[in-house]
Amino acid sequence: MADQSPNNPKIPQHVAIIMDGNGRWANERGLARIRGHQHGVERVEEIIRVAPELGIKYLTLYAFSKENWQRPKDEVSFLMGLLAAYLDQKLEEMHRNNVVFNTIGEIGDLPKPIQEKIAQGKEKTKKNTGLVATFAFSYSARAEITRACRLIARKVVDGVLKPEDINEDLLSRSMYTGTLPDPDLLIRTSGEMRISNFLLWQISYAELYVTEKYWPDFTKEELVKAIEAFGGRERRFGRTSVSSKQ
Ligand code: IPE
Ligand code: IPE
Ligand code: MG
Repeated sequence: MADQSPNNPKIPQHVAIIMDGNGRWANERGLARIRGHQHGVERVEEIIRVAPELGIKYLTLYAFSKENWQRPKDEVSFLMGLLAAYLDQKLEEMHRNNVVFNTIGEIGDLPKPIQEKIAQGKEKTKKNTGLVATFAFSYSARAEITRACRLIARKVVDGVLKPEDINEDLLSRSMYTGTLPDPDLLIRTSGEMRISNFLLWQISYAELYVTEKYWPDFTKEELVKAIEAFGGRERRFGRTSVSSKQ
């Protein structure tokens, strides 16, 4: 499932990003954390705009984790307001740019008006043929895997599936990511060397790239650097250098 761009193996077909460091970016400037989130939104717009120009077909952005609900109430409210405004202002532009708007995570955890905007955005852009931009909201990889197990167990109990029919492909299709190919490149900004419960099933063979840059400073140039680093990697998928070229 670890597909790469069929045209150019040096370009990752699917890039996933843990957009981290908004708070630290603001703190270093003596600003409130929320200012960092506001600037982070500008980078989301930029990266979605330039990703297709760079040959990326799928972009998956970690916007809000299930664990992030435990942040101070004010910050969570601000983030929800920012999300609502983003959907109001940017869905039309994404549509014009032929982007398919997609989400993963527990969308039912979000405020109702946001759930409605998300549903409208998906409906509006579902026939587009350009970049698939997937936003992770209230996302937890462990919750995703648990949910997949539950969906499969239900089918076994209902007699529509035999335990012997459970395989990796079925598990992949039972994730929120469904038909998306696995990420080829996982980027994390702001230097933390951790995955923070993101796409645990899907990143088994993703190349990892961690930059010290905070998310509000992650411009097109930084994305280009990440793609160049990816292009220099040798993906062996458990084989040797010789056997992976055969
Ligand atoms: C990422 O930046 C945005 C979200 C998790 C919503 P942070 O808010 O985590 O910023 P830091 O890590 O505290 O600097
Ligand atoms: C991961 O960042 C979640 C998102 C980027 C949305 P966090 O800032 O929540 O992760 P930790 O707490 O540093 O692991
Ligand atoms: Mg953080």
